[in-house]
Amino acid sequence: MKQTLPQELHRSLTADVPFISPKFFYDDIGSHLFDVITLLEEYYPTRTEQWIMDANRAAIAKAVGDCDVLLDLGAGNCAKASQLFNSIKPKQYRALDISKEYLEAAVADLQKQFPYIAMRAEAIDLSLPLAFPDIAERRKIFFFPGSSIGNYDPEKADQFFANLAQECHGNGGLLIGVDLVKDHETLNLAYNDPLGVTAAFNLNILLNVNRITGSHFNLHDWEHYAFFNESQSRIEMHLRARSDVTVSLPGDGTKERAIAFKAGDLIHTENSYKYTEDGFTEKLRRAGFGNLQTWTDPKKHFLVCFANANK
Ligand SMILES: C[S@@+](CC[C@H](N)C(=O)[O-])C[C@H]1O[C@@H](n2cnc3c(N)ncnc32)[C@H](O)[C@@H]1O
Repeated sequence: MKQTLPQELHRSLTADVPFISPKFFYDDIGSHLFDVITLLEEYYPTRTEQWIMDANRAAIAKAVGDCDVLLDLGAGNCAKASQLFNSIKPKQYRALDISKEYLEAAVADLQKQFPYIAMRAEAIDLSLPLAFPDIAERRKIFFFPGSSIGNYDPEKADQFFANLAQECHGNGGLLIGVDLVKDHETLNLAYNDPLGVTAAFNLNILLNVNRITGSHFNLHDWEHYAFFNESQSRIEMHLRARSDVTVSLPGDGTKERAIAFKAGDLIHTENSYKYTEDGFTEKLRRAGFGNLQTWTDPKKHFLVCFANANK
């Protein structure tokens, strides 16, 4: 049964290990904060992925081939897709993101710059199964940059890839960027910038939760906590209670309750899995993609991959 967002949050915050899905980072403030994160010296993924795509523009376009529809998954500000328009030349661009107002403004701006490409902004939740029956026959290229795939648990990532492979109907493919395993210092610094932008991004999730559920999280009661968990090969982000705190959570068809946190208790807000090139490409093959082509940077910090769905 489909649950509403307040129901989903009610359930996750009262779970044995409380968590909030990272999709709740992205209200309007969260989307803007993420854009600032991408400008930080410590946050190498955006810069590195863009470098790889710039350095291999022609080879990527050749691998991708004809593109009837470019589907930008978790499009954000749409900047990375717009850099591909001149080389990939999509006939149609569909930007999908959960952050509705932010997405619509970005696509409206882009449409002015590229009036000859048909564009559509679609506010959807990518954690639900995807289907595109209206463009079943068209050659689709899914674009999933920014290592957003790192937010999916490995089994969920497998399901997501299988869903995309199926939606290609034997024609098209997936152009994806993924963050690679590297030295822990680089990883930890990327999620613990000294300016505190990632901390603000993490804390802002509580404001969004307050807005959606009517809860009363006070930001002063919580602090950002992020670290690389080597055994799971993932960065974990949490919010840690600074002292004992009780938060009221109004019901949404469920009973209102107060949740008690002790000083040091955690709310898990994000996983960002880091892959090896072999491990990642193997996942794509298992999902039904083939003819993989990969590009990386000199330090091998990030990987861009085109996975073909052609039969
Ligand atoms: C890490 S940012 C990447 C943004 C952009 N694609 C880039 O590479 O810079 C993740 C993007 O995915 C969106 N997003 C996160 N979870 C989502 C979900 N469940 N459904 C739809 N969009 C989601 C966010 O709003 C955000 O724009």
